[in-house]
Amino acid sequence: MKAYEIGDFPSTGALTLVERPDPVPGPGEALIRVRATGVNARDFSIMKRVFFGNPAPTTHIPLSDNAGDVIAVGPGVTEVKPGDRVTMCHYWRWLDGPWDESMRNDDFANTRDGFLVEQAVVPAVALLPIPDCLTYEQASTLQSAGLTAWQAVVEAGRAKPGETLVTIGTGGVSVFAMQWAKMLGARVIVTSSSDEKLERMRELGADETINYRATPEWWEAVMDLTGGRGANLVVNNVGNGEVDRCLKASASGGRILHIGSDPVTPGRQYAPPQLPSRLALLILRDLTLKGVIVGSRRMFADLLKAMETHNIKPVIDRVYDFAQANDAIAYVAGGEKLGKVVIRMG
Ligand SMILES: NC(=O)c1ccc[n+]([C@@H]2O[C@H](COP(=O)([O-])OP(=O)(O)OC[C@H]3O[C@@H](n4cnc5c(N)ncnc54)[C@H](OP(=O)(O)O)[C@@H]3O)[C@@H](O)[C@H]2O)c1
Repeated sequence: MKAYEIGDFPSTGALTLVERPDPVPGPGEALIRVRATGVNARDFSIMKRVFFGNPAPTTHIPLSDNAGDVIAVGPGVTEVKPGDRVTMCHYWRWLDGPWDESMRNDDFANTRDGFLVEQAVVPAVALLPIPDCLTYEQASTLQSAGLTAWQAVVEAGRAKPGETLVTIGTGGVSVFAMQWAKMLGARVIVTSSSDEKLERMRELGADETINYRATPEWWEAVMDLTGGRGANLVVNNVGNGEVDRCLKASASGGRILHIGSDPVTPGRQYAPPQLPSRLALLILRDLTLKGVIVGSRRMFADLLKAMETHNIKPVIDRVYDFAQANDAIAYVAGGEKLGKVVIRMG
């Protein structure tokens, strides 16, 4: 089978196409034919071998998102059968209940190989069926960006009808955050560096938009748009450099969902956060600042049900063929995309 390895990505910005032996599923495992995978911000940290101080070997296969079908199962597998269309969380051990940091030690595309490969062996217990309403390409956008936004907006943020949510940027997490918030009846304000992207976000459902290049202190515009009250939820897809503005943009009782780990896009710089003085707003406004780490298999199952019920489709900017994987990665690195970029295996 064919696979892409990290190889000399940190210096060349390109992955290496290699041949590998076809894998064989062991007890409790399923062999899946990968049909599509998506590119995420975290994949760049992994490919550059700097992901949370855990340098992957040069032979590592990247990319966390996945959609495929089962082609064989190992001994004892009852959860799936050949022919099933399936997907799974990259933190596959988080099936339900609360997160435990030790689950980070078993992570597809990080501590295990990822999905930029024709076939992969995975734990059968981790798999979820892909609903008929989603193609493989659509399903392969959800495991990182879609699920993280789900936890932020639905599980942790508990957005309510009529509440105002701000989501920063027009990347994968942000577009899904808007879709989940609109599903729940919230009013959505989106920020971006690009007026063209903001126009597209309005077509996709954004109620209000702010260009953070033209208005670096975007929290002031949020205050204007909310009659001075501020936003009930702020989805921080950027990271520490934006915490100060997220605090200032928040209404009393607001929830800030902290997702990003800057820098987001290669080449973009951030002013150092000036947090200590602003942390008083946590008290004065009774705010909740909540870290978000993707989501569990149970949350992913809920997300898939919601997409089926509400006929929600992911926003895919471009789809590339497997042979063009390096073009897909270069396009994402360029920062021009809105929503998701997918690589299909055919
Ligand atoms: N905590 C978790 O479990 C988790 C899970 C998934 C992702 N993440 C993190 O969440 C972040 C977003 O991920 P993603 O997949 O959505 O990334 P992405 O698709 O690459 O999108 C990033 C977007 O951020 C915006 N942006 C970049 N620099 C900015 C700046 N200085 N100020 C404001 N906005 C800026 C850009 O929007 P415009 O082009 O519109 O300006 C860009 O499109 C990343 O840091 C990623 O590592 C965390």
